[in-house]
Amino acid sequence: MTQSGEIQDDPFWYKDVIIYQLHVKTFYDSNGDGYGDFAGLIEKLDYIEELGVTCIWILPFYPSPLRDDGYDIADYVNINPLYGSMQDAKNFIKEAHRRGIRVITELVINHTSDQHAWFQRARHAPAGSPERDFYVWSDTAEKFEDARIIFIDTEASNWTFDSVAKQYYWHRFFAHQPDLNFDNPAVTEAVLEAMRYWLDIGVDGFRLDAIPYLIERDGTNCENLPETHAILKQLRTALDADYKNKLFLAEANQWPADVIQYFGDGDECHMAYHFPLMPRIFMAVHQQTRLPIVEIMRQTPAIPESCQWAIFLRNHDELTLEMVTDEERDYMYSAYAENPIMRCNVGIRRRLAPLLENSRPRIELVNGLLFSFPGTPIVYYGDEIGMGDNVYLGDRNGVRTPMQWSSDRNGGFSKAQFAQLYSPPLMDAVSGYQVVNVEGQLMDKSSLLRWMRRIIRLRKQYKVFGRGTLEFIEPANRKILAYVRQYESQTVLCVANLSWSPQSAELELSRWAGKTPIEMFGMEAFHEIDETPYVVTFAPYGFYWFLIEK
Ligand code: BGC
Repeated sequence: MTQSGEIQDDPFWYKDVIIYQLHVKTFYDSNGDGYGDFAGLIEKLDYIEELGVTCIWILPFYPSPLRDDGYDIADYVNINPLYGSMQDAKNFIKEAHRRGIRVITELVINHTSDQHAWFQRARHAPAGSPERDFYVWSDTAEKFEDARIIFIDTEASNWTFDSVAKQYYWHRFFAHQPDLNFDNPAVTEAVLEAMRYWLDIGVDGFRLDAIPYLIERDGTNCENLPETHAILKQLRTALDADYKNKLFLAEANQWPADVIQYFGDGDECHMAYHFPLMPRIFMAVHQQTRLPIVEIMRQTPAIPESCQWAIFLRNHDELTLEMVTDEERDYMYSAYAENPIMRCNVGIRRRLAPLLENSRPRIELVNGLLFSFPGTPIVYYGDEIGMGDNVYLGDRNGVRTPMQWSSDRNGGFSKAQFAQLYSPPLMDAVSGYQVVNVEGQLMDKSSLLRWMRRIIRLRKQYKVFGRGTLEFIEPANRKILAYVRQYESQTVLCVANLSWSPQSAELELSRWAGKTPIEMFGMEAFHEIDETPYVVTFAPYGFYWFLIEK
């Protein structure tokens, strides 16, 4: 059983935690200025602790013009004053640690804001100078032409002309986010300095944002290049040299075969997101078949012993559809984003609950998969209460609205004037804060929040979920997804009905003949397994986790 209440001295802690992802800005405003802040986050740590999660990933909180919600960083070693002071941030880390909760922050090193001092210095410095060389420049926009454009809704090119420098600069994302030049060793050194700064303050790890794009080479798509991996190994060597029990989490939105390179031989990132799995969970539920999930897991190569997948259902970005085929993308759009306003770049800008039509059984089912699949699960703030979205807010802001604490003014998020809030809270009849909020769900014993607390508590009792192997069992009924997780003496059989209708399935479990599966939520014994197929019946979207006792 994983202990809480203190930080364990464990190099593999990231295999057992449950991560809660949030933006300081969106969580709780302690001083009534309309923005969430670190002091507010500290006030809400009891809530996070009671939810049961054991690690918080906070989105960028650095000084920034906020044209990409803080991923446009203007200073790596400071706090955006809107969110409080450096002391507030330090207090937050200390308070989280006191509760046994680790803290992961963002190391956004592919690019900076154009307001970063390094870029301002670069554009004013002569071409070819060490200062100019911090970024990637060209006299023409005809270089690296095989690199795709990621933000297709807003950008027409990865090059933008700078009138001060009189050259084009390279950017994989927004034009106001110039890419750093990792061919310049001084850049790596500068980034390492920022990394050490936060490690010294006590953060437990970093999400490495947009990591496949560090290096550009003509004639390639400028993604996953060997030179990029060399930089990562250099960062990891520096991390391991002076710190212990720290983490790199790779944000590489790539196919499994490319992503696993980010683990290296256990000498690059400790963790990486499984991007292709996520849309296939939604596809499987809509198509009522396990095939998309089973197929992608079959295509997922083994990873080094010390490494771990990060798995998630939703996050602060659009539900990305880059890692699916063209047909699958069309299917996902028609199934989950019929109204074109719900689409953004190559994806869908909606939250979990509205994607699943606020169906409690479906929300429970996909969370059941999230918490029992190989990897470390990540819960996006608000999804534990079934928060909705506002697709009319533009960009991805519709999934970044204020946390809904109560039915009070501004959802209990802030005492500011409504007009002062960084974003309008949701107020609609289905998902507005009057209907969906923490206070109400704590009063209601059968609320989603209470259920999420229960499943998280259960998951934490068994290391097998974070560390175990995965083996599919394939009953003739394809609407049933069945898999075995195994770690040391723990064996868990997970079965799930992906269909809206009741189902039954015959499972081939004869290897456990004589054993009695225990359903783990209620700890009730089911009928004994024998040599004949084991029949399980399911309610619509029903799922069970069975402990197969020794
Ligand atoms: C982040 C996005 C951000 C982009 C560019 C991503 O990978 O998740 O929110 O817009 O990096 O910084």
